[in-house]
Parts: sequence; structure tokens; C-alpha cells
Amino acid sequence: MSTLILSRKSVRELLKMPDVINAVEEAFRHWSEGKVVMPPKSYLILEQGDFRAMPVAVPGALGIKWVSVFTENPLRRLPTVIGTIIYNDPATGSPLAIMDATDLTAYRTGATSALASRYLARRNSSTLGIVGAGAQAYTQLLAHAEVFDLKSIRVYDYSREAAEKFAGSLNEYPLRTTSLQEAIDCDIVCTLTPSRQPFVKKEWVRPGTHINAVGADARGKQELEPSVLAAATVVVDDIVQAASAGELNMPISKGLFREEDIYATLSDVISGKKNGRNDDAAVTVFDCTGLAIEDIAVARLVYESAVSNGRYPSVDLLEA
Ligand SMILES: NC(=O)c1ccc[n+]([C@@H]2O[C@H](COP(=O)([O-])OP(=O)(O)OC[C@H]3O[C@@H](n4cnc5c(N)ncnc54)[C@H](O)[C@@H]3O)[C@@H](O)[C@H]2O)c1
Repeated sequence: MSTLILSRKSVRELLKMPDVINAVEEAFRHWSEGKVVMPPKSYLILEQGDFRAMPVAVPGALGIKWVSVFTENPLRRLPTVIGTIIYNDPATGSPLAIMDATDLTAYRTGATSALASRYLARRNSSTLGIVGAGAQAYTQLLAHAEVFDLKSIRVYDYSREAAEKFAGSLNEYPLRTTSLQEAIDCDIVCTLTPSRQPFVKKEWVRPGTHINAVGADARGKQELEPSVLAAATVVVDDIVQAASAGELNMPISKGLFREEDIYATLSDVISGKKNGRNDDAAVTVFDCTGLAIEDIAVARLVYESAVSNGRYPSVDLLEA
């Protein structure tokens, strides 16, 4: 029995954004059809950050992601988010692959946001605002560029250096650094920071904007003023996760938003059980907390391309 070992570099060369978007969309459809086993992610809260365990089974694939979010890591030249996936054989449970999931996480998160934007943003959206020019920013841009004809991309980071480095590395896109308010003044906005203080002000959000609120993925994190949510059509990836650890967690804990105010889950919208955008003036918000179905769908793609490629190392973990 052999287990493929796939490093960050190997996984990155096997990831193709258009395939990732399709795989993630299929995973959401499977979920809405009741074909998925996925408990809410479990958190290990530490002083230096947190770990999450994300087990899941989807048709034809199963496994677990073990992922950390340590916000001081960039000072050590390490990614804030570091993940590893064990990808198992659904028939026998044996480990088919152990793969780095650092870039895989960024790809699946970008793909999920772009899918939310496909269903919730105005169809002719052409401006994208990015707040937080860290590891998640590039794949949000890449995925949105697959789905929309982007004429202008504005990036803001409270570290001017981070924003300029990001913009300078992507000359092939119509990208420029701007103020925070200008980055919010776009058709689609992606917020990608670990902030615990809301910075998206209601008066900056124009009618018709779609916001992917991605950064808040643990208790206490928050990027949008609660009044933005109160006036918006709010779609979540998972109700339990969004209410306890997503963008909604702080407004709900303070009584400024109620679970009943959530309009739909993304899987309901993708499967057609609920409508996506039907009013050009509405503000829509997707509360993206990150789901194990997204990880396993992409891990499967990576595993299958690694097998067909045939040149990646393996070990016999069950060697007796
Ligand atoms: N929802 C999901 O599925 C998902 C997936 C991956 C990461 N995340 C979360 O997204 C966030 C970003 O992750 P990352 O890997 O890009 O981190 P990162 O550390 O690589 O980048 C974060 C960037 O945000 C900037 N920043 C921090 N606070 C800011 C603020 N108030 N205003 C403007 N810029 C600010 C930092 O300078 C940095 O450049 C984290 O909170 C992470 O936990 C969520």
C-alpha cells in the first residue's frame, strides 16, 4: 500500500483554478442533495493561534484537514494559515495521500468566494475590491478573474508594503493600491483580514455591492459593521459555523443580528432551492467560514492528477 507525499510545491503545480471552481461547486451540490457527512469543524484554541480539525466524506472521497491560523507567523516568514490533508481510500480507509493544504486552502477559498459572487453579485460586475493583501488575496483575484470580466481591481492593506508588494507582483491585471474606502467602493468586495475590529462602514457600501466576508473564521473576528449585515441579504456557507465563528458571530452574540435573518446557505442557492440575486440594488454578503467539503473536493483533484502524472514520491505507511 503506498501513500503519496505531496509537498506544497507539488500541490501548487497540480492546482488549476477553473477545475477547482468546478470541483467546489459540485461539492456544494452534493451537500444540498444530502450526500455528505461533515460535522462542524472542531477548534483547538491556543495562546499563539488556533488549530481546526475538518473531517469529511463526500461521494468517492474522504479525509481530514488539520489547519492552523497563527497570525504572528509572517514575522517568522511562515504563512499565517498552514494546512495538511490526509486523503483516505473510501473503500478501505487506508491513507492514499498526505498533502500540504496551505495553497489548497487559498485556492478553495478563492473558488468558493467566486462561486458566491457568481450567484450573488450583479452579472455585469467589473470592479473588484480586495482588503488584506496576504496569502488569500491572490487566489481571490484569480478565481474572480475566471468568473468576471474585471476592468479594475483595487487593493488595500493597512500594511502599505504588503499592498504594494501584491500589486507589484501582478502586472498582468488592472490592479492598483487604493484607500480602504475606495476598495469598498467596488461591485464585488473581498475582505481577507484577521481583524477583530469592524472596518467596512455602512455608508461606504453602495447599493448593488456584493461582499465576500472571508477573514472572520473564528470567534471574536469581525470585518463588517453590524449595520452592513442588518441591511443586507446574508448568505452563509454553514449556519452553525457562521453563527459561532464567522462574520456573524460577534453581531449575533451582541443581539445585533439573528440566525433567522440569514437568507440562505450557498448550497441552497447553487442548487436552486433559493434564488440568488434578483434585485440590482440589494447589498449581498456571503459569510465564508470555510468547509471541509471544499478541501476534500480539491484534494481529490490533486490526488488524481498526481497519480496520473506518476512522478511523486510515496511511502508504505502500513509497512509492518
Ligand atoms: N473563510 C475561510 O475559508 C478562510 C480561509 C483561509 C483564511 N481565512 C482567514 O482569512 C484571514 C487572512 O488570511 P491570510 O492567510 O491571507 O493571512 P495573511 O496573514 O497572509 O494576510 C492578512 C493580511 O491582512 C492585513 N491586515 C490585517 N488586519 C488588517 C486590517 N484591519 N485592515 C487591512 N489589512 C489588514 C495584513 O497586513 C496582511 O497583509 C485570516 O483571518 C484567516 O484565518 C479564512
